[in-house]
Amino acid sequence: MVSDPIDIRDQNSYTTDQFIVQEAFKPDLKQILISEGEIVSRISRMAEKISESTTKRVESELYAACVLKGALRFFGTLTPKLSPTGEYSEGVIHASRYTEGKTTETRAEVSVPERKTIEGKDVLIVEDIIDEGYTLESIVENISAQDPSSVSIAVLFDKRDRRKVEIDIDYTGFIVPDEFLVGYGLDYNERYRNLDHLASLDSSVLKG
Ligand code: IMP
Ligand code: MG
Repeated sequence: MVSDPIDIRDQNSYTTDQFIVQEAFKPDLKQILISEGEIVSRISRMAEKISESTTKRVESELYAACVLKGALRFFGTLTPKLSPTGEYSEGVIHASRYTEGKTTETRAEVSVPERKTIEGKDVLIVEDIIDEGYTLESIVENISAQDPSSVSIAVLFDKRDRRKVEIDIDYTGFIVPDEFLVGYGLDYNERYRNLDHLASLDSSVLKG
């Protein structure tokens, strides 16, 4: 749609010594794929596009929903840059795939804001990364059931090569390679969320 994501799948990456990276993280990281500066600049542009979309309808009431916890950092950078023409409010969505030993599980457990808070509003789902797509599929289903005026999706990172279900993403930051990624809010066992850049995790960490 309005999205013109930056595809970094064939781009050069950086070593962990070329940017400031916590020493404790360095042995676990393979490469830095996107620096914080690039991520923030891209989010500014995404915010501009989202704001433009609110000018199309006078009655628009934007409700930005942060998918916890991975999207917290993206949300915190994005939302101050928004300048919606109409009303604006925000909230959170909890989502988790049941993954324990069951790789076939395609449903995500989702809890969304109650009907009276999002009914009639233009809900913008703000998510860190889309992989197979099941999580966002469940979120959209749950949000739509609360009768919003519209639903749109902003995703910072898109692991497009792994998609299993088709989902229309309105705003995409970057198309990223099929690797396990951490940083800028993304975690592995709750670690690395506070890494400023997007990095690939070394396979030794995933095995151990
Ligand atoms: P999906 O249902 O396969 O699209 O999974 C999306 C969710 O899985 C995201 O919201 C993340 O929480 C998590 N996820 C997928 N890939 C990664 C990754 O590379 N690093 C960290 N979390 C990931
Ligand atoms: Mg997530």
